[in-house]
Amino acid sequence: MAENSAETAREAAVEKALGALDLDAKTRLLAGQDMWSLPALPQIGLESLVMSDGPVGVRGVRWTADDPSVALPSPTALAAAWDPELARRAGRLLAQEARRKGVHVLLAPTVNLHRSPLGGRHFEAYSEDPYLTGVVGTGYVLGVQDGGVGTTVKHFVANDAETDRFTVDNRVAPRPLRELYLAPFEAIVKNARPWGIMTAYNQVNGVTMTEHHHLVNEVLRGEWGFDGFNVSDWMAARSTTADIEGGLDVAMPGPHTVYGEALAAAVRAGEVAGSTVDTAVRNVLRLAARVGALEGAPPVVADPPAPVDGDALAREIARRGFVLVRNEGGALPLAAGRTVALSGAAARDARVLGGGSAQVFPEHVVSPLDGLAAVLPEGALTYAVGADPSDELAPADRGFSLRARCRDASGNVIGEGSLPNGQVQWIGDDLPEGVTHDALASIEVIGTFTPRESGGHAFGTRGLGAFSLAVDGETLFEGTQAMGAETDPFEAFFGSPVERATVELTAGETVEVSLLHTLDKGFATPLPAVMFSFVHLGPRRDPDELIAEAVEAARTADTAVVVVATTERVESEGFDRKDLALPGRQDDLVRAVAAVNPNTVVVVNSGSPVELPWREEVAAVLLGWFPGQEGGAALADVLTGVEEPGGRLPTTWPGTLAEVPVTEVTPTDGALHYAEGIAIGYRAWDEAGAAPAYPFGHGLGYTDWSYDSLRAAPGAVTVRITNTGTRAGRETVQIYLLPVDDAVERPARWLAGFASVQAAPGETVETEIPLPRRAFEIWDEEQNDWALVAGSYEVVAARSLVDVRLTATLDV
Ligand code: BGC
Repeated sequence: MAENSAETAREAAVEKALGALDLDAKTRLLAGQDMWSLPALPQIGLESLVMSDGPVGVRGVRWTADDPSVALPSPTALAAAWDPELARRAGRLLAQEARRKGVHVLLAPTVNLHRSPLGGRHFEAYSEDPYLTGVVGTGYVLGVQDGGVGTTVKHFVANDAETDRFTVDNRVAPRPLRELYLAPFEAIVKNARPWGIMTAYNQVNGVTMTEHHHLVNEVLRGEWGFDGFNVSDWMAARSTTADIEGGLDVAMPGPHTVYGEALAAAVRAGEVAGSTVDTAVRNVLRLAARVGALEGAPPVVADPPAPVDGDALAREIARRGFVLVRNEGGALPLAAGRTVALSGAAARDARVLGGGSAQVFPEHVVSPLDGLAAVLPEGALTYAVGADPSDELAPADRGFSLRARCRDASGNVIGEGSLPNGQVQWIGDDLPEGVTHDALASIEVIGTFTPRESGGHAFGTRGLGAFSLAVDGETLFEGTQAMGAETDPFEAFFGSPVERATVELTAGETVEVSLLHTLDKGFATPLPAVMFSFVHLGPRRDPDELIAEAVEAARTADTAVVVVATTERVESEGFDRKDLALPGRQDDLVRAVAAVNPNTVVVVNSGSPVELPWREEVAAVLLGWFPGQEGGAALADVLTGVEEPGGRLPTTWPGTLAEVPVTEVTPTDGALHYAEGIAIGYRAWDEAGAAPAYPFGHGLGYTDWSYDSLRAAPGAVTVRITNTGTRAGRETVQIYLLPVDDAVERPARWLAGFASVQAAPGETVETEIPLPRRAFEIWDEEQNDWALVAGSYEVVAARSLVDVRLTATLDV
C-alpha cells in the first residue's frame, strides 16, 4: 500500500477504534498497566503496547541478564562519528532488538544538550551543539522507525542535569530555549516524524514539563506538527487535570497514576472535557496503528529490514566514535612486531556503558585486554592493573554465579530467578516467575564465587532491611540496615554499600556464598519494589605497589597502553558529577608510566569529559567513551591500524573544570538559571576567549587530507578534498559560519553543516553540504519568531572548530 493511503487507512482505523471505547476504557489506556506497558483492549483489537529503555540497547521489560541485549557504544560515541547514516543503522539494529523482545517503543534517543560537563547523564546525550544533536538524533529515529518500532525523543525539554531533577525549575529565556534546547527536538520532529516524545521531570520557567501546555500543545504540536504520543518520564505525571490539559497522553508507569480512574472521574466531574481525553487516546491509537498493534490498521513497516549483525555494528560504531586527540611522532598505529605493556583496571574490566535506566545486559563484553590478546602475537602483551579506581564495594559480578531464591512468610520457596550480578532490582511486575509482591517475604541470593586473586575479599550489603550474609558456610553478618537521614526511598538502592566482613580467599578456589534478605513490609516505596545488592570488593593492594608493577612492565615494552576510566559512582543517571578528575590514582599511574616509556598511549574510558593533566606528557590520547560490548575489539582494530579511529569531538574537552565557562547544575531555591543565555559549549569558550584542551570537532585519523576548494551559495556549499596520505580514510568536513560585522548578538561562530566523506589514497572527492536557512536565523524575542539576519558571512571549511582550511564569503 502506498504510504499516503496507508496513513489514511490508519487514521480511519484509529477513529473507528476510538468510537468503540467508553470513557473508562479510554482513560485506562492512558495509564501504564505496569512498569513498561499499556493495557490491551481486546474489544477494539488493540494489543498491549510495550516500551523499553534505550538508548544504547533494548533492555526489554525485565532487569535481568536472562535475556541479554546488544550494547552499543554510548550516545557520545555515536555522535562523535558525526554520521547520521551510521546513527540510522544503529537505530535499525535497535528496532530488530526491540522486535525480538516484543517491544513496540524504544525510550530513546536522549537529545538534551551538554550544557555542563558535570551533568550526570552527559554520556547519554549527544553533543553540546544543537545542530549536531538534531542531525544524529534524526538518523537514529529514522533507523528505529525503519524497523517499525517507535521512539520517544527525550527528555522534552531542558533536562540537562540531574540535581533535583524531579522538581528543578530551569529558567531559560526564549532565545536560548529556541536556538539551543528545543532545536534538536524541532529538527527531529520535522525531519524524522517521531512517533513519540517523552516529557521531562523538570519545570521550564515555572511550569512542570508534563503540564506544559505552551511548549507541548502550542510549540511541539502546533508549530512543528508533531502527531505522535507524549509519554511522561517515569513518575513525572503529578496532576490529572494539569497533565491532560498540558498535552500529556500517557502517564507511566502504572497502575497507580494520575490517569486511569482519576481521569475518568475528572471528566465525570466536568473538570476535563471528553474531547481532551479523545485527543490523547487518538495519539496512542495512532502509535498502535503505526507499530502494527491495532487490528485493521496497516503498520508503517510490514516487512522489517534485513537482519543486522549486532556484534559487527557495535564494533564499527565504537571505532568510528573513538577520538584520537593526540598522536605525537606517529605513535599510532602501532608498528607490527611491537611489544605492548597494558595497564589500568578498566583494561581488564571495561566499563562499556553508563549507569541508570540506559543500562542493558550484554551477552558478552570484549575488554581491551581481550581485544589486544586476540590480535597480538603470543608473548607480545603484558597486563598489570596499575591503578584501580573502584575503592568501594560494588554489585557482586566477576567470578560470581548467582541466583535469587524467593520464599513466602512460611518459608516455602515460591520461585527462583537468575541474577546478572548481585543487584536485585524488581520493580512492579518484574519478578521471577510465580512470585508476587504480596506473597514474597524473603529473598536469598545464593551461588558461588571463584576469586581471580588471592587475599582479603570484602563482602557487604546495599539496601534497607534485615540481612544475613554467609561465605563458605560461615555466617559473617546478621543484622538490619535502617533508613538513614535520607527521605528518598530510592536512596536505599542508590545509597552507599556497607562493608560487612572480609574473608581470606585463594585465587581459583570456588566458595559458596549467600545473602538472605528479609523484607520489611512496612517500608513504603512509590511502586511495589524489591531493591538491594550483594556487594563485593577484591583484595585491596598497596596503590604504590600496583603502580610500580605497571611501570616495570612498561619500562621494557615498545609501547605502553594505559586505560583510564570513570566508575559507576562517577557517571550515572540520578546525580551530577562533582568534579572532572579521574578517580583514584590513575593520573599518577599515567605519569609514572609515561616517565619510563616515551611511547605511552592513553585510552580514556569515560562517557564524558575528564581532566587529563598529563596529556602533554604522553605520546597519544584516544578518547574511547563507553564503547559498548565490542569496545575491546574495536580498540585493537584501531591501535594496530587495521582501522582508523573515526571520531571528532561532539563536545569541547576542557583542560580543567575551573576553565569551563558553564558548569552550574545545582539549583538555588529550586531554580536553575540558564544565565549564560545562548553561550554554551564552544560558543561559551569563544565568548570567554579561552582555549580548551581539545576543541569541538577535533579528532585525528591515520591519513592526511588537503582541502582543495570551497564554493559557497545561499543553499549549499561545495567542498573538494583529497586524501593525500597512503591509506584509505574518512574525513568529517565541518562547515562553520562566522558573521561579519554583526549587528545582533550572536556567537562568534557556529556549526552550520558537515559531511562524512571517504576516499582512497590519492582520491579527490567533492561533497555538497546543504546550508539550511535556519543557520542564518536567530530567535527574535520581540517578534516571537525566527528572523533571518541578512548580511555577510564568512563560511569556513574546517577539520575542527579551530582548524580552518578554506574560507569563502557569502551574502544573504
Ligand atoms: C529516565 C528515563 C527512562 C525512564 C524509564 C527515567 O528515570 O529519566 O530516561 O526512560 O526512567 O526507565
